[in-house]
Amino acid sequence: MDPLISKSTVREYSNRAVDDKEITSLLEAAMGAPSAGDERPWHFVIIRDEDLKSRIQDILPEAFMVTQAPASILLCGDQNKQKHPGFWVLDCAASTQSLLDEAQRLGLGAIWIAVYPIDGRVESLGGLLDIPRHVIPFALVVVGHPAEARKAEYRFNSSRVHYDTWSRVGNTERGVGRTER
Ligand SMILES: Cc1cc2nc3c(=O)[nH]c(=O)nc-3n(C[C@H](O)[C@H](O)[C@H](O)COP(=O)(O)O)c2cc1C
Repeated sequence: MDPLISKSTVREYSNRAVDDKEITSLLEAAMGAPSAGDERPWHFVIIRDEDLKSRIQDILPEAFMVTQAPASILLCGDQNKQKHPGFWVLDCAASTQSLLDEAQRLGLGAIWIAVYPIDGRVESLGGLLDIPRHVIPFALVVVGHPAEARKAEYRFNSSRVHYDTWSRVGNTERGVGRTER
């Protein structure tokens, strides 16, 4: 069986809507992610309002896809839900990747737009969307139906794999078997 490899980020979308069922599947996958101590610190703001989209685009000028795509989801981390200080970032990253994987499974296209730890973006998005201070905007995932099919890129690199000790690296295509010192 082939490994699960993420398809490339999608930056161009058709004008087909993302329906509520698809949004629910994305959220179910995102909330199924692992988290430190099972703290599940996430919240999700679904953005489909056209005016809000263009105001978000003003905050994130390079994210031209926000106004093109039918929906965006802002993942946020609730500081009050932390059991282990600092781990909310890792939890939210795991959740974001789960959401992206589900988008791929559904045949949707998506892109992760950085919010945290860029203070200006965190502040501006939090203010625009009335997010309470203890909830930190983490990542904006823009989602839609891809305008064209994208292929997964095979990025396996055996020089990044170390067997038992650092100096022992794999030299086979799939990374198992022969090793060299
Ligand atoms: C933490 C993180 C932040 C990212 N932020 C942005 C961003 O702000 N703008 C953007 O265009 N792409 C962003 N991306 C997408 C990356 O640019 C993209 O994943 C990377 O170039 C690899 O390309 P691929 O996803 O097509 O394989 C981000 C990805 C990650 C994981």
